Amino acid sequence: MKILGIETSCDETAVAVVEDGQHMLSNSIAFSMDVHAKYGGVVPEIAARAQLEMIVPMLEAALEQASCDWSYIDGIAVTYGAGLGGSLLIGVMTAKTLAISKHLPLTACNHVLGHIYANFISSSPLPGYSFSDQTPQFPALAVIMSGGHSQLVLFKDHFNYQLLGQTKDDAVGEAFDKVAKILGLPYPGGPSIAKVATQGDKYRFKLPKAKVGKYDFSFSGLKTAVLRLAQEQIGESYEFPSYRLPERLSEAQKADIAASFQHTAVETIIDKVVLAAQEYRPKCVLLAGGVAANQHLRDGLKHVLRCPLIVPDPKLCTDNGAMIAALGGWQYKLKLALADPYRLAIEPNLSI
Ligand code: KG4
Ligand code: ZN
Repeated sequence: MKILGIETSCDETAVAVVEDGQHMLSNSIAFSMDVHAKYGGVVPEIAARAQLEMIVPMLEAALEQASCDWSYIDGIAVTYGAGLGGSLLIGVMTAKTLAISKHLPLTACNHVLGHIYANFISSSPLPGYSFSDQTPQFPALAVIMSGGHSQLVLFKDHFNYQLLGQTKDDAVGEAFDKVAKILGLPYPGGPSIAKVATQGDKYRFKLPKAKVGKYDFSFSGLKTAVLRLAQEQIGESYEFPSYRLPERLSEAQKADIAASFQHTAVETIIDKVVLAAQEYRPKCVLLAGGVAANQHLRDGLKHVLRCPLIVPDPKLCTDNGAMIAALGGWQYKLKLALADPYRLAIEPNLSI
């Protein structure tokens, strides 16, 4: 079964074709990141306008890359939440129109579940992707670390899951983005921090780990601690404006702060994953979401876990259409209810 997946929940316009929830035939994506970088974060109105322009070219590119036309497509999958309202609308309206005009079934996807199902993609003729040689087994512990979510979810089976814990404030990716801004590093912050951190000493500064519920997270205190640390390093008080910090901090100070922050954020995640793995004894851990691209996190988890760690290719960790086409494939395979193309509505605050 070949599913065409559409993902437009944030700033990306992504379309892909995946066969049987695991074989990736195409993965087309357009970002409007350059424009957002000027503002230090995604501007919803700009994102939606770019998506309106890019959705048709991305559909065409995904079909061409998969060497197929509409007659080969068996169904459509689309992200209907969570995400930015205007952005979700572009994808959902496109998917509904296609389902009606091409007489194809439509399945509605939860963005966060999509990140987890990126781990089920196991092969592709496309160059430049690598896949885990392990197949996910249940029970599985899913660790979702993205710009909008930080969650630990126990999957007893497909679509049978229990939320163990989540962030009480900022998501971890959001903390990476905010700390990057404090240090004057480009958006998105995750890759920028990771790059600069390679030049720094991760033990130079001891930063706090939040004390919250057993499997919950909190990253806003860590971000504030970085702000205070940066002010302290240049000998200023907490009243010193954060936008003036980058010009006063030396490159060495930035690198040490970035490395210490990354180390603390990653250790916080690893501590909780290890605790949950000890209690629930999953057959594997599925790492997912944009922050799953972080090498420090991938290596750290691999080192401490007793069960297999499955991680998507870094290009499939951040938002993409293939994860939605894969999730959609499983939803069709397991005969989950189809969406009505005349009624499907977006749900910007959808949770897992
Ligand atoms: O999953 P995603 O593409 O979008 C959401 O659904 O939120 O995640 C984006 C987040 C951003 O906050 C970005 O800074 C972070 O993932 N990210 C990383 C890395 N690559 C992307 N964080 C840490 N290390 C990375 N290498
Ligand atoms: Zn995402």
